[in-house]
Amino acid sequence: MRQSDEMQFAVRTAKAAGRILLEGFDKGVPVEHKGVIDLVTEFDRRADHYILGRIQKTFPGHRILAEESGSTGDGDSPLWLIDPLDGTTNFAHGIPIFSVSIALWEDRRMRLGVVYDPTRRECFWAERGKGAYLGERRLRVSETAELRDSLLVTGFPYDAWSNPDNNLENYARFAMCTQGVRRLGSAALDLAYLAAGRFDGYWELRLGQWDVAAGGLIAEEAGARVTAMDGESPYLSETPSLIAANPILHAKMTAVIKGTAK
Ligand code: IPD
Ligand code: CA
Ligand code: CA
Repeated sequence: MRQSDEMQFAVRTAKAAGRILLEGFDKGVPVEHKGVIDLVTEFDRRADHYILGRIQKTFPGHRILAEESGSTGDGDSPLWLIDPLDGTTNFAHGIPIFSVSIALWEDRRMRLGVVYDPTRRECFWAERGKGAYLGERRLRVSETAELRDSLLVTGFPYDAWSNPDNNLENYARFAMCTQGVRRLGSAALDLAYLAAGRFDGYWELRLGQWDVAAGGLIAEEAGARVTAMDGESPYLSETPSLIAANPILHAKMTAVIKGTAK
């Protein structure tokens, strides 16, 4: 599949940012706290700064929303959504599960997205209407139709200690009716793995737009139904919460989350 110029740019930039992250990985980098359990490192900032610079140079009129540097630009020009390091807690603990996520929103929809895992050198990408890929290989979500045959993945919000709506109840419910529920620690990779059929379903509460912009499109282009927690509404909001799976499993997951499953 031929990639558009913007897609090629996003892939090149994500890979280069991934190389920056690898310079710091496993070297015991100092950790700062954005919240009690919300961490950030110099390498989150370095990768953020690099991606921002590349976009500003190549697409000077475009807007940017990046996790570590906030919003730049105004109007309704195309918007780049950046998570320079998704999986900072893993990164800070020397666990090789993290990614770079870059997406482009244009004409009121996500146009393209890339999720790059620098430790495995896996590059997941999608352009709207053209399918989802891991490198050259076309991706398709699993056809698993029963929760008892499924492997799910989720995550927990950074306010889990203080907010009772912390996903533990959903976690307990799914743990009792599936083959297992993983917590990888990178929402972008969770969605990319769902697209690749490695996981059968994913849900999570109160993420950032940069966490799900690329992975959400990759999952959709691989055939996933991706919605908000009511099982119907669009998932992209200020703090997206989402359920993602093939349409049959999506309906069953929604029923478990709503407490209406038989
Ligand atoms: C986090 C990861 C994690 C998810 C958190 C995110 P960060 O992103 O995606 O899997 O559970 O809610 O905030 O902070 O590592 O970029
Ligand atoms: Ca993130
Ligand atoms: Ca991040």
